[in-house]
Amino acid sequence: MSDVITVHVPTPSRTYDVIVGSGILDSLGDRVASTCHPDAVLVVTDSNVGPLYLQRVVTSLEKAGLRTATLTIPAGEQYKRLVTFGAILEAAAQASLTRDGVIVALGGGVVGDMAGFAAASYMRGIEVVQVPTTLLAMVDSSVGGKTAIDLESGKNLVGAFLQPSLVLADVACLATLQPDVFVDGIGEIVKHGILADAKLFDELAEHPLTQYSDASYLARIVARNVEIKRDVVSTDEKERGLRQTLNLGHTIGHAVEAASGFTLGHGHCVAIGLCCVARAAEALGWAEDGLSSRIESCITAQGLPIDTTIASDDIIKYATHDKKRHGDVVNLVIPSTIGGVGIRLVSLDDFRHIVCLGCGVTR
Ligand code: GLY
Repeated sequence: MSDVITVHVPTPSRTYDVIVGSGILDSLGDRVASTCHPDAVLVVTDSNVGPLYLQRVVTSLEKAGLRTATLTIPAGEQYKRLVTFGAILEAAAQASLTRDGVIVALGGGVVGDMAGFAAASYMRGIEVVQVPTTLLAMVDSSVGGKTAIDLESGKNLVGAFLQPSLVLADVACLATLQPDVFVDGIGEIVKHGILADAKLFDELAEHPLTQYSDASYLARIVARNVEIKRDVVSTDEKERGLRQTLNLGHTIGHAVEAASGFTLGHGHCVAIGLCCVARAAEALGWAEDGLSSRIESCITAQGLPIDTTIASDDIIKYATHDKKRHGDVVNLVIPSTIGGVGIRLVSLDDFRHIVCLGCGVTR
């Protein structure tokens, strides 16, 4: 087992630890028992992750004396729906979880979002422990308390804020990811570098991350990203101001994701969104010269895309239906330098211009 890094996350609603290390999955039971003191646990996982790690997690929880039930849901964003959410609630009731029960979310962002939302709703709210197994979930979605499910009308339209009581990120789990799924998480890591850490950005540009990177290096990168997110969410838990900066690259990224019918991974779409908004910002004189090519080469080095062939009209259509739009303006996070971003309210006409300047312009 490599060194274990603990990142302390204080937020107005709850203070918790994110534990990062390699080979730490078997410590979950003792950590859940001492942090949450639950009377019972429901572990929610999916059909990809369950066969790999569910038994180890159950053994660890039972060894710690915790009564444990499990639910395996089908893997995939298309199952992040009311019907699966209902199945998790039923499983919690069948397992006789009380208000002192805990739901453990074992998996990627979809499992974390749905199990988290079920925990926020069951008996008006019980505790959730996040055990992210993808890079994207480790560096982003398991931290900060956003939980949600999708509706036919759009992604993440129903949800709640529920900070986890504990997050345990075992980077050894990254070795079993499909290469594309691992790389997907790097989109959010590059975003964090642009937002807040020029040193991290330069390190990534020089030494692209791979799932075969040294375990202590991976743990350090995950922990640094959790710190960056922690610094934002502990100041602005409910996205009234500063947390909006975490949407860097997401307005265009979400539109590309939706226009692709969710066939392109979220992190890939964020990577495209980061490059598009950087190119437009530089063309408009809002960003320092050379910023967009620095971002493009860092993203290319990770094996992520820098542009899209989706028509600008489609990007504009999907982006202006985004739930983060406020009236007739779009809240756009603009990078001005590596380590410096601002939020601009842009009119729909200006947004159209930005999309035309930044998207579909590379060969
Ligand atoms: N993924 C952005 C946020 O948690 O606010």
